[in-house]
Amino acid sequence: MERPAWAPRSIDISVPSVSRIYDFYLGGSHNFEVDREAARKAMEFMPGLPKIMQANRAFMRRAVRFAADRGITQFLDVGSGIPTFGNVHEVAQSASPGARVVYVDHDPVAVAHSEAVLRDNADAGVVAADLRKPQEILASPEVRQLIDLNRPVALLLVAILHFVEDEDDPYGAVAELRDALAPGSLLVLTHASYEGIPLPPERAAGTVDVYKDIRNPLIMRSRDDIARFFEGYDMVEPGLVPMPSWRPESETWDPEDEDPWAFSGFAGVGRTA
Ligand SMILES: C[S@@+](CC[C@H](N)C(=O)[O-])C[C@H]1O[C@@H](n2cnc3c(N)ncnc32)[C@H](O)[C@@H]1O
Repeated sequence: MERPAWAPRSIDISVPSVSRIYDFYLGGSHNFEVDREAARKAMEFMPGLPKIMQANRAFMRRAVRFAADRGITQFLDVGSGIPTFGNVHEVAQSASPGARVVYVDHDPVAVAHSEAVLRDNADAGVVAADLRKPQEILASPEVRQLIDLNRPVALLLVAILHFVEDEDDPYGAVAELRDALAPGSLLVLTHASYEGIPLPPERAAGTVDVYKDIRNPLIMRSRDDIARFFEGYDMVEPGLVPMPSWRPESETWDPEDEDPWAFSGFAGVGRTA
């Protein structure tokens, strides 16, 4: 198989990756046939997966603008993925020129492509690190140079925590990051769940099996378990809700106009006191 310029030598391009599968769902071009095959298999069980991802991106952009409108100028996006349309740095820096953005991902394609996109952006950086090792993220040169932890930060954990298994202590990692943040910081989070999916869980479980087969388990958590990630934060209105229901842009927004798949899983924003 030919290796394109954006694929670092270190990666095994015969093994699917969640970041490239996600890129495929979003209509991107940074994916291989193995990724597309896994994505198509997952979509046999949940054909609305691309709709869920679009709702996730739309929520993320609204939440970044919300943070910028409230004076936040620093964004730490962990599990940032392969850059695509409407990236965090674009939304943040257009709402708040000079805003600082650090992307963190453990996927080499996500890191390499983010580096390429941010090459001329002095206010943004990329870290190759793992959410399960929060101290490595906080101690990275990019975070130290670009983020002042004495001032509020918007911490984004968008569509990442459902890839961290309980045995890897995702709650501990989220708490360590929270403890490093100044008062007035925000946690912006989305998470997959069987709740809200317009299908019986037994059927949606076929998608979970596909991720298990590619050794990147997808952990569907209940709303209560997702709410626990916000320990130590006060929830911003309207709380932890389906993605389209979080501060829709239009005052005339009508849930009936949304695709039913978009209501799968949960989104929320919390603020540290
Ligand atoms: C579904 S994508 C989400 C991308 C982006 N946050 C968004 O919502 O559009 C999940 C990303 O999290 C990354 N990821 C998964 N587990 C991770 C971990 N333990 N540490 C760092 N990144 C991780 C994957 O490599 C992937 O790029």
